[in-house]
Amino acid sequence: MEYKIALVKGDGIGPEIVDSAVRVLEKIGQTFGHTFTCTPYLAGGCAIDATGIPLPQETVDGCLAADSVLLGAVGGPKWDKNPGNLRPEKALLGLRAALGLFTNLRPAKIYPALAGDCPLRPDIVANGFDMVMVRELTGGIYFGERGRRDGKYGPEAYDTEAYSVMEIERIARVAFETARKRRKNVISIDKANVLETSRLWRETVHRIAEEYPDVTCTDMLVDNAAMQLVRNPAQFDVVVTTNMFGDILSDEASQITGSIGLLPSASLGSTKRGLYEPIHGSAPDIAGQNKANPIATILSAAMMLRYSFDLGAEADAIEAAVDRVLNKGLRTADLGGGEASLGCTEMTDAILAEL
Ligand code: IPM
Ligand code: MG
Repeated sequence: MEYKIALVKGDGIGPEIVDSAVRVLEKIGQTFGHTFTCTPYLAGGCAIDATGIPLPQETVDGCLAADSVLLGAVGGPKWDKNPGNLRPEKALLGLRAALGLFTNLRPAKIYPALAGDCPLRPDIVANGFDMVMVRELTGGIYFGERGRRDGKYGPEAYDTEAYSVMEIERIARVAFETARKRRKNVISIDKANVLETSRLWRETVHRIAEEYPDVTCTDMLVDNAAMQLVRNPAQFDVVVTTNMFGDILSDEASQITGSIGLLPSASLGSTKRGLYEPIHGSAPDIAGQNKANPIATILSAAMMLRYSFDLGAEADAIEAAVDRVLNKGLRTADLGGGEASLGCTEMTDAILAEL
């Protein structure tokens, strides 16, 4: 089969880690007889520098014409003082909206070989944990009305959280379907004791839950969830929550794995086309120095194979190769490799050797 992939390398370490994932895809293509045709597009800070805007129309069109999108990371100190609509992050939000990617899947689990890097007490993670966050991605306060105005006490700013029943229903269904393929447990996170959007969220999730009698569904308030994640992470199987709460809690979930450099993510809509990217950012401090960990991006490519192309065996092969490399004790600097740390290229070579 032939697959068209739009590459959005972005800023900082983005180009290095995307190049690593492309090398892995090429190897998979040779082994399993597929062709992955990759076309690069600009987005983020590099697009601002080249074209004056973070998300050129050509990039949107290229991504829409592709079978899937692989993204590195966007942003960096160079553009931090830009106004809101000229920030690199705007590219990411624009792509999510343009591609209709309302679901963000962020798996977080402990790798046995890296359990020592987990910042939680050993007894808390004695039995490991394995969860997937299902974050709503194109609604809520990220996309609500915002602005500046004259308020009671002088100039003020506002952002609005709004959720429609339709938006809650469709993300809830994704969560229940995901749970059916796992441990059949959904925890829905909201702030229903304060927010009206959360009360609608809760009501709607409960109604959808009735369609999935085989899946258990519990509510949890977001502040409690932040605490439970570090108190007993094993209780979470599938978590479903809003755009903003999901942004915050998924960083927390990634950190308790001990290795944000390993975690992939998938953003999906109602078609097979998805956007796959590591959870971590553009790490401008180590950009261009061959120090970045390519694993999260390589695992994101594996998620692309699984979710967008239905190539489960190929995705398994990549994940198994990463497991073997970690089990052998090979480490990048962020994984505490110290003196013996592999660079981005060498870590990619090691994974290719296992494929
Ligand atoms: C993420 C990031 C983005 C978000 C930023 C870069 C806009 O933090 O993907 O979690 O808030 O969604
Ligand atoms: Mg985030």
